[in-house]
Amino acid sequence: MSAEGRRRVLLTGAAGVVGSALREHLAGHYDLILSDVREVQELRPNELFRRADLTNPAQVQAAMQGAQAVIHLGGIPDEHRYDLIRAVNIDGTQHVLEAARALGVRRVAFASSIHAVGYYPRAQQIGPDVPVRPDTFYGVSKVAGEALGRLYFEKHGLEFVAVRICSFQPRPQDARHLSTWLSPRDAAQLFRRALDAHGVGYLTVAGISGNTRRWMTDEGWDLLGYQPQDDAEAYAAEVQHLRGDPASRSERFQGGVFSEVGYLGRAAPEG
Ligand SMILES: NC(=O)c1ccc[n+]([C@@H]2O[C@H](COP(=O)([O-])OP(=O)(O)OC[C@H]3O[C@@H](n4cnc5c(N)ncnc54)[C@H](O)[C@@H]3O)[C@@H](O)[C@H]2O)c1
Repeated sequence: MSAEGRRRVLLTGAAGVVGSALREHLAGHYDLILSDVREVQELRPNELFRRADLTNPAQVQAAMQGAQAVIHLGGIPDEHRYDLIRAVNIDGTQHVLEAARALGVRRVAFASSIHAVGYYPRAQQIGPDVPVRPDTFYGVSKVAGEALGRLYFEKHGLEFVAVRICSFQPRPQDARHLSTWLSPRDAAQLFRRALDAHGVGYLTVAGISGNTRRWMTDEGWDLLGYQPQDDAEAYAAEVQHLRGDPASRSERFQGGVFSEVGYLGRAAPEG
């Protein structure tokens, strides 16, 4: 706790897209320890930076010193080689949870993903408790992160909220986003609630705005007190289908292009 009585929160992946946006919204509510393997720019008065590589448990624990809660965003946010995904996303998340346990941190909010369940057809609305259907090694790493969270909750009482972020964007970019969009201000509200809500224990929720066409249910939002302010429907006239072919995997499955057989993400050869 800071001198002003504000909680100190560790934000991993703070140099990234989601982390940078969350900083702006969370700065007024918490003292932030920003951590990333990359430098974070332009610190505000209530922010400090601690560099840590998620693959290094000692660095992760050092970064977490003094934190009461963690928002764990750091990692590879796309498909990549399995060994890298495993080291950064799976082992890295275990390092975060183990440090939280060792330091007596109360709660971790985890950036999970739609790709944990990406092979569900778009025609099916799914809740957070359906069997997992990952569409990539990346999706498998998010399933593993959720399972690690469950383990640390059951065994050690570490509270854990998995937010299955779907498409974090300033505004919807294509027709899929009419269902999957998560606006920056809704993301900030959702992660704040994930840290602040009482009596949560272990919870998985959809990380989307209040989209009229959503494929995921709002189960758990009431427990958190999350009330999205945005709906992608407002952009329906502006966006188009990415592929167009309704028979393609990209258009059939919730995971979009990640569900294509040849999708390599960051493992794809350059150029
Ligand atoms: N952006 C989305 O729409 C979306 C959707 C679903 C889930 N997510 C998840 O949200 C989180 C943030 O995503 P993002 O879009 O901001 O990605 P990003 O790549 O912009 O940010 C991730 C950050 O993690 C850091 N990182 C990578 N390897 C690291 C390591 N070994 N040690 C320490 N830090 C490391 C990177 O430097 C980067 O700053 C990720 O976990 C991602 O899987 C994002």
